[in-house]
Amino acid sequence: MMKLRHLLAAALLPSFAFAQDAQIDRKVNELLKKMTLEEKVGQLHQLSGRQFTGPESSKFADKLADIRAGKVGSMLNVKGVAETREIQALALQSRLRIPLLFSLDVIHGYKTTFPVPLGEAASWDLEAIEQGARVAAIEAAASGIHWTFAPMVDISRDPRWGRVMEGAGEDTYLGSQIARARVKGFQTSKLGGTDAIMATAKHFAAYGAAIAGRDYNAVDMSEQQLHEVYLPPFKAALDAGAATFMNSFNTLNGIPATGSAHLQRDILKGEWKFKGLVVSDWASIKEMVPHGYAADLADAATRALNAGSDIDMEGYAYTKHLADAVKSGKVQAKLLDDAVRRVLVKKFELGLFDDPYRFSDAAREQAALNDPKHREIARDVARKSMVLLKNDNNALPLAAGAKRIAVIGPLADSKRDLEGGWVVQGERADVVSILEGIRRRAGSATVTHAAACAPGCATMDGLDAAVAAAKDADVVVLAIGETWDMSGEAKSRTDIGVPGQQNKLFEAIKATGKPVVVVMLAGRPLIFNTIADQADAILYAWFPGTEGGNAVADVLFGDYNPSGKLPVTFPRNMGQLPLSYAQYSTGRPVLDEKNIVYKSAYIDSVNTPRYAFGHGLSYTSFRYSGASLSSNTMRPGQSITLSFDIANSGKAAGTETVQLYIRDLVSSVVRPLKELKGFQQVRLQPGEQRRISFTIDRNTLSFFNTQLKWGAEPGDFKLMVGSASDDIRAELPLRLLEK
Ligand code: BGC
Repeated sequence: MMKLRHLLAAALLPSFAFAQDAQIDRKVNELLKKMTLEEKVGQLHQLSGRQFTGPESSKFADKLADIRAGKVGSMLNVKGVAETREIQALALQSRLRIPLLFSLDVIHGYKTTFPVPLGEAASWDLEAIEQGARVAAIEAAASGIHWTFAPMVDISRDPRWGRVMEGAGEDTYLGSQIARARVKGFQTSKLGGTDAIMATAKHFAAYGAAIAGRDYNAVDMSEQQLHEVYLPPFKAALDAGAATFMNSFNTLNGIPATGSAHLQRDILKGEWKFKGLVVSDWASIKEMVPHGYAADLADAATRALNAGSDIDMEGYAYTKHLADAVKSGKVQAKLLDDAVRRVLVKKFELGLFDDPYRFSDAAREQAALNDPKHREIARDVARKSMVLLKNDNNALPLAAGAKRIAVIGPLADSKRDLEGGWVVQGERADVVSILEGIRRRAGSATVTHAAACAPGCATMDGLDAAVAAAKDADVVVLAIGETWDMSGEAKSRTDIGVPGQQNKLFEAIKATGKPVVVVMLAGRPLIFNTIADQADAILYAWFPGTEGGNAVADVLFGDYNPSGKLPVTFPRNMGQLPLSYAQYSTGRPVLDEKNIVYKSAYIDSVNTPRYAFGHGLSYTSFRYSGASLSSNTMRPGQSITLSFDIANSGKAAGTETVQLYIRDLVSSVVRPLKELKGFQQVRLQPGEQRRISFTIDRNTLSFFNTQLKWGAEPGDFKLMVGSASDDIRAELPLRLLEK
């Protein structure tokens, strides 16, 4: 009986959704008929609350007056039940009583701070990533927030760009899977619940390819690169139901993305049939003037709306000039209506016309922000995000015999630096520092501490005390790296070495002869060759969030066997940038590092990275064997299976992320030497073995061709499986037949 009811409900669901959509359409049409031109423009005007995440604009009191007058459609940087209620009440004094949308950069948690997105990506654990977004959504939604400006799905291959911290790294396939997981986590399967918030796929598009890694800089790339590398994560977010998109600050091939009809009208709203709304980035409509693309603010308003930007965030172009542009015919009234419709539909879908305060509930806010489960989840995601880069002579996990542990370094007892950028409601006192985490776990071992210098380590006055502490210990845990504000928006760096005096600190500690376990915090890949050569172990912990110190201790003491893998290449030096594992072949490839004359090489560095994409060690080892294909030829329309055995050949239970790469050997467009096309996580007990399979179909072999279409070409391919992009354990040939 129960089953039958479920089946019936499932069968009725699509028609119910359809009826609901039709009802919303009708209501929006009725409302649009009642609206004046100015009220319509108001729905497209978005203002920041008291806090600023971009250049400051007008006075807060003026903004409140505009809200009351129905001239504002949404706010950002307003949060909490009390504040959202207070401001919503003003919107309800306007003539048509249209509620506001409250949006916020909930990037890696609301009150419970999770690892920064690049760190989460290093878990390669889609369920964990989705859970992280779920917790953020539950906390934010209970605090009056309807809409987050996340996930950032920009691919980036240049760690000079500070915003690599906010994305999923360099790879299109991995980035697309993570985009989907994050959207699902924020939005659930359907908007409308008071535990779900709208997601934003940003920044549309190609923002991560800023020339020389300088934030807000121009982008120039072929249409093929755009479609093949940079757009798929956006498409994945859209397919997962992303309610909104944000455009970007950069120009793309000479056109500001905000003013690009090609991106927003042709691709997003045309080819991809996106029905949600597009918000500009902070003042990016206005910034088309300094770009030299719009003559003045009025021209910018016309260009942006015509190009498909629906909401003007803090740019004042629409509020000041859009009505005139419609009156003079520069913008067609139907385009304005389309933009307004997109905003109103979302307000209906969220249920705000029925109850404008339904997200702002004090009891729910209290419960959500104090739910202990959220911290447990954050701890789990944090330990999954950490990547064991190096572990010589099993320096880790810390031996039970280590009775004296010196926890040294400027980040050892820092709380702020564990949180990273974009902390919205997190409380500093809640953060567990690395020192605290180690102390809680160390049992009868003695834990000493010496900072040596302040975070950033510009000067070092505590070196002697640090060296003395090291000499007195059985093992040193050295916590160094970037401070929280060195990665993120507007945090591009020309030197991504370990900042300040920290290399000197490492060398002095290493000189004591004690085993040195480095815990590195950062929002991007850093360059640290001496440390990489000489440290006994290196755990890359990113900015791990509220539970960071506990998570570090879990890994150091072996309560959690590290499973993270790099979602981004770690270069050896700055001159290699931008750098990705998905290199193209050249006519003069380096086949042997000793023979580089007239080869595509540097005379002062090898081409290979310091740590490759997909790299990450474990306290156990995994053996791959018996790889086979169900057939080594494939007809179009068919699929084949690649299988192999994986065994835990070490002594600890552990999780391996097996990676599938392909290479198209000859094709009408030169292909990368390796492209990730699949991955799976396998947890195995010592001695346990399992057979893994991947399905390969035409889709797996497709690329964006010279006709600007996706397709696979008949011919020979190489399939590779392994533990990292530079640790391939089996290679198999495959031929795609003509028919
Ligand atoms: C950033 C966006 C962010 C917005 C609002 C901009 O400067 O580029 O990612 O969502 O500010 O804070």
